[in-house]
Amino acid sequence: MIEIKQLAPDEADWQSLVDCLRVGGDAHWVLDEYGQPKTDDLVFLAGLVDGQVVGQLVLRRQPIMIPATEWAAERDRLLRDPDGEPLYETLVQTFRVVEAHRRQGVGRAMQLRALDLTKALGCIQMRSWSSLDKPANYHLKLSLGFGFHPEVQETPSSLKVSGGYFVKRV
Ligand SMILES: CC(C)(COP(=O)(O)OP(=O)(O)OC[C@H]1O[C@@H](n2cnc3c(N)ncnc32)[C@H](O)[C@@H]1OP(=O)(O)O)[C@@H](O)C(=O)NCCC(=O)NCCS
Repeated sequence: MIEIKQLAPDEADWQSLVDCLRVGGDAHWVLDEYGQPKTDDLVFLAGLVDGQVVGQLVLRRQPIMIPATEWAAERDRLLRDPDGEPLYETLVQTFRVVEAHRRQGVGRAMQLRALDLTKALGCIQMRSWSSLDKPANYHLKLSLGFGFHPEVQETPSSLKVSGGYFVKRV
């Protein structure tokens, strides 16, 4: 049986979620050295099969920022609604299911919960970036109705990586 839980550090399954993040190599994005959330704007989802954590999806809630340029006086700008209120989104930080439990619907169930949560958190959209070597992720996102914006990202070692942003209005 698949179950999706939102977890915080004081909850019973937290350590299993930390282990799942570490095994997948994703922990450094969202956890500090003590296995605690790196920042307080993160939301942690665990995917469980028969009570065992087999997947994770971590979101960050953030204002939608339009990057600074010389043209914009070097200032980041917030995207605002017609009344001037800042608009928020969730940005997926990590998303993975352990190999032995893939293609059983855990990833899809976590994405659906994340979309519900995005709405509940007062955000207008959910967004994630994915390099193009992730066919399962591309298939899943497109089948859920996400749009796609192609984009190249550069790693700290100046390697350019082809991929794009998936965005869905909630
Ligand atoms: C992406 C990922 C989380 C999906 O998890 P999952 O639990 O296997 O996903 P689901 O079982 O819910 O399957 C979702 C859809 O993807 C499809 N799919 C799964 N693997 C696929 C593959 N290798 N190629 C094409 N489609 C694939 C499934 O058939 C399913 O579609 P369907 O419902 O129409 O049949 C998992 O493949 C994974 O952990 N990949 C490595 C990490 C990764 O790429 N993360 C992405 C963010 S960077």
